[in-house]
Amino acid sequence: MCQLRDAATATAMEHRKILDILRHGHADETVIVQGWIRTKRELKNFSFVEVNDGSALANLQVVIARELPDYPDLLKQLNTGASVEVKGTLVDSPAKGQRLELQAEEIHLYGGVDSETYPLQKKRHSFEFLRSIAHLRSRTNTLGAVFRVRNSAANAVHQFFQERGFLWIHTPILTSSDCEGAGELFSVTQFDLANVPKTEDQDVDYRQDFFGKPAYLTVSGQLEAEVMALALRDVYTFGPTFRAENSNTSRHLAEFWMIEPEMAFCDLNQDMDLAEDFLKFIVNAVLNTCPEDLEFFNKRIDSTVLSRADGIITSNFERLTYSEAIAKLQQANKAFEFPVEWGMDLQSEHERYLTEELIGKPVIVYDYPIGIKAFYMRANDDGNTVAAMDVLAPQIGEIIGGSQREERLDLLQQRLHASGLDEQDYWWYLDLRRYGTVPHAGFGLGFERLVQLITGMTNIRDVIPFPRSPMNIDF
Ligand code: 4AD
Ligand code: MG
Repeated sequence: MCQLRDAATATAMEHRKILDILRHGHADETVIVQGWIRTKRELKNFSFVEVNDGSALANLQVVIARELPDYPDLLKQLNTGASVEVKGTLVDSPAKGQRLELQAEEIHLYGGVDSETYPLQKKRHSFEFLRSIAHLRSRTNTLGAVFRVRNSAANAVHQFFQERGFLWIHTPILTSSDCEGAGELFSVTQFDLANVPKTEDQDVDYRQDFFGKPAYLTVSGQLEAEVMALALRDVYTFGPTFRAENSNTSRHLAEFWMIEPEMAFCDLNQDMDLAEDFLKFIVNAVLNTCPEDLEFFNKRIDSTVLSRADGIITSNFERLTYSEAIAKLQQANKAFEFPVEWGMDLQSEHERYLTEELIGKPVIVYDYPIGIKAFYMRANDDGNTVAAMDVLAPQIGEIIGGSQREERLDLLQQRLHASGLDEQDYWWYLDLRRYGTVPHAGFGLGFERLVQLITGMTNIRDVIPFPRSPMNIDF
């Protein structure tokens, strides 16, 4: 807790978060609150200001009596956005809308606001506009609620794995390999781009770069997580990942957070079981820790937020093979933009049809065609498919992607070659199959998509404080 301005007038006990006051405060308590003014209402003999400190969705109503010293001057400065400290006494609120209000005795203005230029007015702003003021948007009800939910979900991620004996491991952000083999890498270099060293053949001479070879921002911590799982058994990562895919959609970011558990002695079924338990645990934890915020989302953003959360917690996720999913899509009698045929990658419209319209709850599709999936996924005996799985969720589509890993050296080498990757670059990954290989599996959960699922926010750029997407890196 930070130091009080005037220690003689207050003890640390009086210095309270607004959430704590709203939940546990009682009349006649003396408290000090600090926060930002949301609104001001001037009446004849007194005024109200609503103060918010981010700890709760609700504001604390502060009553400012005309008798306070410098009342007219003070009031002029208590504009929306101004930062204040208020010392006063809690009283039962005579009006409905709040249980308690704070009768101000002393008010200190930390920083005033020029109402003419302050971008956050009392009216509703579009999310698009709020993105252009990402340094201020967390002071709005919606974004504040998003970031409390995000925090609660992040905490639940650790709780889930820690309770099950998984070790949190830290995988590198700088890497020399493309885990997903999709070529969506951001390059990292120390070269002066106006003067890049060249070889005799006029290729870029990476030997002179910082690492002596091409380097990138990681697209996934999976390969390193496999290393750790093959020593420590059950591990997980939780960190930022980067993809230079130029898709300007409401579900893609260039920088997003991913959670990747990896388990030794684990097959695809156990992997799917864990993914289902994991989603249920997190949604349940957020419902318990942020009930007011979820009510708010249900009322203001998406009226299916609470029923969807309940559906996730209480239902058994449907499990379909890819082939069954294709058959169902073909029977759907719907004009999809991308025609459905076996071997294709499922598009968002197909995923959403399955989970929203056909099944009405999360669906796990597994055993995908070998031709559309990454080299590390384990080949099934049918020769056509791999032990991959995607969890599809209503409103989102793919939220989790995972697989059992190819633990057999010769088959993995074949897959690397077929994917056009160089075995030399993966020598250490192949060593895991040379020395004490075991069946193992894991998955990746896109953390922002999870926050979208829980809050009903339609654009992924509104669930991360500082979104990175094509042409967007100002903040
Ligand atoms: O399906 P993906 O590409 O799987 C992997 O990266 C594996 N290495 C995971 C593993 O098995 N350990 O990505 C996993 C999840 C997706 O299901 C999606 O939720 C999210 O990451 N994701 C993105 N989220 C936001 N923006 C993007 N550009 C994303 N790309 C993937
Ligand atoms: Mg995927």
